[in-house]
Amino acid sequence: MDWGMKNRLSQVIKPETGRTVMLAVDHGYFLGPTKGLEDAEKTIEPLLPFADSLMLTRGLLRASVCACTSVPIVLRVSGGNSIVGEDLSNEGITTSIREAIRLNVAAVALSIYIGSKYEHQTLMGLSTLINEAQEYGIPVLAVTAVGKEMVRDARYLSMACRIAAELGAQVVKTYYCDDFEKVVKSCPVPVVIAGGKKIAELDALKLAHSAISRGASGVDMGRNIFQSRYPVEMIQAVRAIVHEGASVKKAAKFLPVPKKKR
Ligand code: R5P
Repeated sequence: MDWGMKNRLSQVIKPETGRTVMLAVDHGYFLGPTKGLEDAEKTIEPLLPFADSLMLTRGLLRASVCACTSVPIVLRVSGGNSIVGEDLSNEGITTSIREAIRLNVAAVALSIYIGSKYEHQTLMGLSTLINEAQEYGIPVLAVTAVGKEMVRDARYLSMACRIAAELGAQVVKTYYCDDFEKVVKSCPVPVVIAGGKKIAELDALKLAHSAISRGASGVDMGRNIFQSRYPVEMIQAVRAIVHEGASVKKAAKFLPVPKKKR
């Protein structure tokens, strides 16, 4: 691996722990004004000191993040669909490598949809992106998006992660599932998990803890942080789990004590 690629990867996955807390705020690329991101700048700004990297589209980056930031950027470069469109898997590359370089990003991210109607298109998109990004030492994060009809189990997610790694992705993002260690063990590159839909704070911390203790290299978490009533406390709690190996109980100390327990 060349120096530039290693340097960028170490901006995303922290060498001190080999882990990462990525803050995902890219949802608008197919959801539009997602709850909690309507005024994205206001939401993102207080979370930045606790994020190892920020994952978002170029539009949101330009509009909502100060160019003075030192937080590494993971640029979402796939899209072309919407939640109300014909098929969510119908994605292509939306943002060029030249643009990624111009924006000084640490990595680029693209979704693949294994088992969907557009599987081939998204896998060829990933391959094209990797070929281009490799030229400039830019790591690629493959996001294993799951179509409505697919089951998020270890068998399916192992296949999706492994295919992404075989095509050359340097990091893979997937979902947590039962037997998650099988997904990690059969994937030769670091695996991070998405948080998924908003759940109770404690459950989200349990999810992060289960994933880390079963071999995940970190989280790429969005809604369970920015849709929480306590986003700054949540990201700190997640950080403690990811980087310090904190228990759920210890991490939960970042959260305010519920009124009834006072
Ligand atoms: C979905 O495709 C987006 O890439 C999100 O970044 C991803 O799902 C992680 O966000 P969340 O933790 O909200 O699921």
